[in-house]
Amino acid sequence: MTSTAELTGEFVKRMREKYGSPVYVIDEASFTENYRNLESAFRKVYPRYRIAYSYKTNYTPYICGKVHELGGMAEVVSDFEYDLAKRLGYAGRDIVYNGPWKQEGWKELLEDKGILNIDNPQEAERIIAYAQNHPEKDYQAGIRVNMDIGQGFISRFGMDPNTEAFGRLIRDIRDTNNLKLAGIHCHISQARGIRYWKARTDTMLSLADRLFGGGAPDYIDLGSGMYGDMESELREQFGDDVPSYEDYAATVAGTVAEHYRHLEDEKKPWLYTEPGATLVSRYMWLIATIVSYKEVQGRKIAGLDCSFYNAGETVRYKKLPFKVFSSSTDYAGGDFVGYTCLEDDLLLNDYAGSFAIGDPVVFGNAGGYSVVFKPPFILPDIPMVVLQQDGETRLVKRAQTFGEMLCCYEMPEIQDAGTKE
Ligand SMILES: Cc1ncc(COP(=O)(O)O)c(C=O)c1O
Repeated sequence: MTSTAELTGEFVKRMREKYGSPVYVIDEASFTENYRNLESAFRKVYPRYRIAYSYKTNYTPYICGKVHELGGMAEVVSDFEYDLAKRLGYAGRDIVYNGPWKQEGWKELLEDKGILNIDNPQEAERIIAYAQNHPEKDYQAGIRVNMDIGQGFISRFGMDPNTEAFGRLIRDIRDTNNLKLAGIHCHISQARGIRYWKARTDTMLSLADRLFGGGAPDYIDLGSGMYGDMESELREQFGDDVPSYEDYAATVAGTVAEHYRHLEDEKKPWLYTEPGATLVSRYMWLIATIVSYKEVQGRKIAGLDCSFYNAGETVRYKKLPFKVFSSSTDYAGGDFVGYTCLEDDLLLNDYAGSFAIGDPVVFGNAGGYSVVFKPPFILPDIPMVVLQQDGETRLVKRAQTFGEMLCCYEMPEIQDAGTKE
């Protein structure tokens, strides 16, 4: 199952009967293949490459566990995500901890020699103080680099290498005998094109030379913000310049390989990227149902039993790949809207085909920032199913209950709530 068009009415019917509507379906085989395609494209050019999956994009434990099984690392930005990575069995050395506020987990990761990327001077002070208080042990940390690669805004993340504060931070780390500067990290959003990736790679390599002389850091982590694998109708909406994994690998891994060709293999830095949406968006589908239809001031409106929150971030600015399993010509055309009371809760603009109430609709590319951005707004979150490689399906997330939406609140004594769970 690699495209929304390939989904059969029989499969969708089976999913709705077994798991209800709306429901997510993840395709295990295609997710795995996509993961391997990205990894092998980079490793062919630069073997010391690893994927660190960005948990915040979709922290479904099944997906994070799958990445672990495939040999990937965990990229986390909070103790919540760090805790999940530990529960899933990741060793510290396979965890990248980024983000501007790292709570407590960084101490354990520091002890375990994981990848800890400093965002700001106060964080550096805490790490330095910790190392100084444990002079008998050795530690390592990296630094997130802030840069302008023409993205058109000033990123709020990382330290600007052209500042006094950056120089001071590096000196302070170097003056701490048992703390090693192990690597450099960056991530720039809204700059997915290949020229931005060339610019970030060049900037990071010249900074690595400045900081590590004729040698190299242990790792260079370039974050993510690549275009992932997409269905053709989505790709077309991004214009002609959506690079393939091979294109990214040729530019990024190729430039790194060339830069360090003089070093023996074990002395070359590890190259990490941190794909999130890049890996997960395409291979999660949202199955929903048309529940209403009306015409107002000439506008045709079909209501769905899901909301745009369930469909993820891409639906806000692009038309998702979709398929309506039309059973009759009761109605023709319309905007497909969600169940919330937000005017902009729109999942499909100007659908031209026919349909009936009760027909299923499937949206592709629903894996990125859907489950993690779904607020407790109006209705609880929906279940998720994995289509396994053996063709069987398995529930990996059950539907959230009303009680779970309220579980953290003080509740007045209710005699007979009369609500169904
Ligand atoms: C530090 C960091 N790494 C990785 C990612 C994931 O990037 P993408 O979803 O574009 O692959 C993000 C997304 O915001 C991020 O902030």
